[in-house]
Amino acid sequence: MPPCPPPIPSLADALRDRTKTLHAAAERSGVLHALVRGHAGPAAYALYLRNLLPAYRALAARLKAYGAEPAVQLIAEGPNGQAARLRRDIAALAGAGWERALPLVPAAEAYADRIVSCSAASWGPLLAHAYTRYLGDLNGDAILRRLLEKRHGAMSLAAVPRDRGRQSASAYRQAIDMAGAFVTDPAPVLLEAEAAFRMTITVSEAVQAAA
Ligand code: HEM
Repeated sequence: MPPCPPPIPSLADALRDRTKTLHAAAERSGVLHALVRGHAGPAAYALYLRNLLPAYRALAARLKAYGAEPAVQLIAEGPNGQAARLRRDIAALAGAGWERALPLVPAAEAYADRIVSCSAASWGPLLAHAYTRYLGDLNGDAILRRLLEKRHGAMSLAAVPRDRGRQSASAYRQAIDMAGAFVTDPAPVLLEAEAAFRMTITVSEAVQAAA
């Protein structure tokens, strides 16, 4: 009898390990740190979300472009709904005229451009961006939304209930793993996840400077 094949390594685990240090750095960065500490409020959070919107839009567009790929089909649904959710939250926080009132920092466009350029030849790097943005949203952003509502009162933000957030996060990690089975070389995906975290940190710092 031949030996059992080794288990397929989990891409979600590899992504988590690879971005652990950067995750801690992101939590301590710019406007994110200020929000956690209560030194910044709804206006700063609105500016942060506004500056992530180009990245969410670019991600949805690139996932759509690769929509025929089975791996992309496994992970596209969550990220696809995020831009609309973000727009609703920004409007709830900053009012109807937010698009004119809230400035875009250059780092926001750079992040969106990166999502487009890194996926010019292959859909693989999109797994890293989907992992970072969607699980970041279900975890860190859900915490920030709850903190803001606790300190500043209900704001009709699309906060995910804690239990549903956990279930969705674990289902999404499984989807990333299934999509990972279509990836021949995970190295560029892991590298791209580092880039996604670094760009989020740059946005967080720039938004803090602009707030
Ligand atoms: C104040 C900011 C943040 C807080 C408080 C926070 C908190 C958390 C928590 C509690 C978890 C769950 C950890 C676990 O299940 O072991 C998590 C997971 C995660 N966060 Fe954050 N986070 C923050 C910012 C960010 C940012 C800026 C990003 C993206 C750049 C991000 C991306 C992620 C990802 C991808 C995961 C999933 C890890 C995995 O299970 O593979 N987070 N975060």
